[in-house]
Order: sequence, then C-alpha cells, then structure tokens
Amino acid sequence: MRAARDARARAYAPYSHFAVGAALACTDGTIVTGTNVENACYGLSMCAERSAVFAAVAAGRSSFEAIAVAGPTGSATPPCGACRQVLCEFGVGIRVIYATPSGCEATTVAALLPAEFVLP
Ligand code: THU
Repeated sequence: MRAARDARARAYAPYSHFAVGAALACTDGTIVTGTNVENACYGLSMCAERSAVFAAVAAGRSSFEAIAVAGPTGSATPPCGACRQVLCEFGVGIRVIYATPSGCEATTVAALLPAEFVLP
C-alpha cells in the first residue's frame, strides 16, 4: 500500500483529478507499480491496476501475489470491472488490498469477480 500511495503521486489525471496508484507484489519479491493515465479522448484512459499489470508483464513478470490500490484520501478504490477481468487472467487467488475512507479492505480477485470469463 505504501508503494501504491507513492505511485499515485505520478498519476496523470488532468481530467478527473482522481489520481490512482497501484502496486503489484510479484512472487519473485519485486514490486511493480502503475498509475492511471488519462487522455483527452476520455475512453482511451488507462487505470492504475492495468498499468501495473502491463508494466510487470512487459518486464517479464506474470506471477503475482497481491495488488494494492490507492486513490484520493476519503475514497474507496476497489478495482473497476475491466481491471478485475485483467487481474483474473493471472490468477483468481491474487489478493487485492484497496484503500477505503477508514483504512483498507483486503479481498481476492475471486471474490471481486465471480463467474469470470475464460476462453473455452
Ligand atoms: N481509476 C483507476 O485507475 N482505477 C480504478 O480502480 C478506478 C478508476 C481511474 C480511471 C480514471 O483515470 C479515474 O480513476 C477516474 O475514474
């Protein structure tokens, strides 16, 4: 969560002003971070969680233990539906810790995304 909060400072969110940071704990012990990156064409914006996953995979890491997500103080930042599906690709057992107004909540990808899509 500390790494997610640090990453949040690097978010690019000039449109929503809702900066989000994410930190992925890889099974090899490394932490890979991501931030949301918005665009003038709003729909092209990317969430912090997916930024972290894509950066990790591009760096050769695709085995994850947990992801932490931090947004503005006072806001809960559970991953959006798209990010849940992307996390699911790498394991429904990945633990998800997200900030809430009163602290943080710990759950799993499986709990956040029942009936995930898998290719037959
Ligand atoms: N956002 C994230 O980065 N992660 C989430 O889990 C929810 C939303 C971003 C997307 C957009 O840049 C901003 O927060 C407002 O929706």
